[in-house]
Amino acid sequence: MDSDSPVSFSLSQRVVHWVTALLVSFNLLFSDGMEQWNRAMRRTGSATADQIASANIHAYVGIAILILVALRLVLRFKSGVPVAPPEEPAIFRLGAKLAHALLYLLLIAMPFTGIGAYYFGNGAAGGLHADVLKVLLWIVIVAHVFGALVHQFYWKTDVLRRMTVG
Ligand code: HEM
Ligand code: HEM
Repeated sequence: MDSDSPVSFSLSQRVVHWVTALLVSFNLLFSDGMEQWNRAMRRTGSATADQIASANIHAYVGIAILILVALRLVLRFKSGVPVAPPEEPAIFRLGAKLAHALLYLLLIAMPFTGIGAYYFGNGAAGGLHADVLKVLLWIVIVAHVFGALVHQFYWKTDVLRRMTVG
């Protein structure tokens, strides 16, 4: 065990985690505006002012996520993260590490492929964004939330606490 590691996530790390979770959920659940813009552009080569406005919301929220992830990596580097609780079996500890790494990667890859599609008209990036990465992100988030619930109710660890009240 690393004796220098903190017992909880710092306040800034916690705030950034939950703001990110909110913004990611928003873009995953309410992407219709961006999809409508995309369909209009493909069919007619132009979009109405309303379609552009709602597509921009998706784009700006996605760019905000990218900035928050960068900030988060800096905070992680500066403050470190608490060690996994001893109640958690080694294989799940590895699973959690992998899930966190994948979440970071996907939260970087999603905005970049989105930017490629939206601002540079790259269809391949759009396909990756909307068909492949989106599905992967959903899977990892469901596993992540399931993991948090298993911690709370089955292993009864303090993991959820250190990402909430600290
Ligand atoms: C929807 C989007 C979400 C994303 C993208 C996300 C992302 C992440 C990432 C990347 C970490 C790793 C932090 C680090 O070690 O630097 C983390 C930690 C954590 N998340 Fe989430 N999260 C989301 C939602 C949730 C929800 C809904 C819950 C609770 C039910 C939750 C509970 C936790 C907990 C407890 C930790 C700390 C794990 C530990 O102590 O090792 N997350 N999250
Ligand atoms: C983590 C951040 C993001 C998430 C979670 C996200 C999520 C989504 C989702 C769920 C869709 C609908 C896919 C479908 O079922 O058809 C979508 C489509 C799209 N998003 Fe994002 N997005 C993010 C960031 C961005 C950014 C930053 C941009 C642009 C600046 C962007 C541009 C687009 C475009 C152009 C489409 C339509 C792509 C196509 O269908 O070919 N996204 N996004």
